Amino acid sequence: MSERRGIELCGVPLRGRVLNGSGTFDAIAAHRVFGDELYERFPFDAFVSKTITLAPRQGNPPPRLWETPAGLINSIGLPNRGLQGFLASDLPRLAELPVPLVVSVMGFSLDELERLVRAVSERDEVAMLELNFSCPNVETGLIMGADAGETARAVERLRPLTEKPLIVKLTPNATDPAAVGAAAEGAGADALSLINTLKGMAFDPRSGRPWLGAVTGGVSGPAVRAVALQQVHAVAARVAIPVIGMGGIQSGRDAADFVAAGATAVAVGTESFRDPEAGARVGRELAALLEERGAESGAGGAARLGA
Ligand SMILES: Cc1cc2nc3c(=O)[nH]c(=O)nc-3n(C[C@H](O)[C@H](O)[C@H](O)COP(=O)(O)O)c2cc1C
Repeated sequence: MSERRGIELCGVPLRGRVLNGSGTFDAIAAHRVFGDELYERFPFDAFVSKTITLAPRQGNPPPRLWETPAGLINSIGLPNRGLQGFLASDLPRLAELPVPLVVSVMGFSLDELERLVRAVSERDEVAMLELNFSCPNVETGLIMGADAGETARAVERLRPLTEKPLIVKLTPNATDPAAVGAAAEGAGADALSLINTLKGMAFDPRSGRPWLGAVTGGVSGPAVRAVALQQVHAVAARVAIPVIGMGGIQSGRDAADFVAAGATAVAVGTESFRDPEAGARVGRELAALLEERGAESGAGGAARLGA
């Protein structure tokens, strides 16, 4: 079995290339179930918190999940304790994880985002911040990450507030995600991650009414992988900063496809619900594949694969 090679992501050393998709692995609940064994065999090389907002949120009304062919629709609605609750009770526990911590934040206005970024970046336990831009700016009505101008304005305003790396998470529900990625890079983002979930809905077979309590939700899992690969490819071709690719990754082979599309690192999301150790398995399989491909094509091949 091959060794997992370390990488640097935005100057932060990681022991491998596999992160979790925000909101898809509850490390605090997993620690309650698996105890310290979780830390000894932690499946990811960096941990991304689920998205937090300034005020606490209950999340969406149930039902919140629907299984699609080869995928999942969720309308969880970002339930979280809010900034103060996160800092007081979740952050100290996440700081015990044996890997660098990325905190994902979402604001419904630039002022909210400013307050989140300032407060989170003051904390030494946090290695990087991820800006989840899949939400409307209540001031403009536009989805922040769907519009290059909105994204640039937000990143320009947030960039001077922190010295920590800023990852911008792009939404796939945009006309031109590569233009949005380029705008984020131009405004000072250190990395991009994509894709977030695609908009979707399902109908109750009995009543014929929308199944999800929130009517629509976000599609994830293998069903979105081909879309994600195309978007990662298009974005990575437009920017020089690292891209973290995700969307339906279930195996090292899937992850290697994202690396071939231009991703420096990858994230495992929906697959962790089926197999909580999926991150570790994907990491091992990916390392073996990259080594094999690198050996076949020499040093140039390894460079092309983003090694
Ligand atoms: C149940 C669930 C909750 C999620 N919560 C968040 C979240 O809080 N913040 C975020 O940026 N993305 C969230 N996502 C999106 C994932 O991080 C990821 O971008 C997406 O699911 C695609 O990867 P996958 O197909 O491997 O799951 C969530 C996805 C799922 C399925």
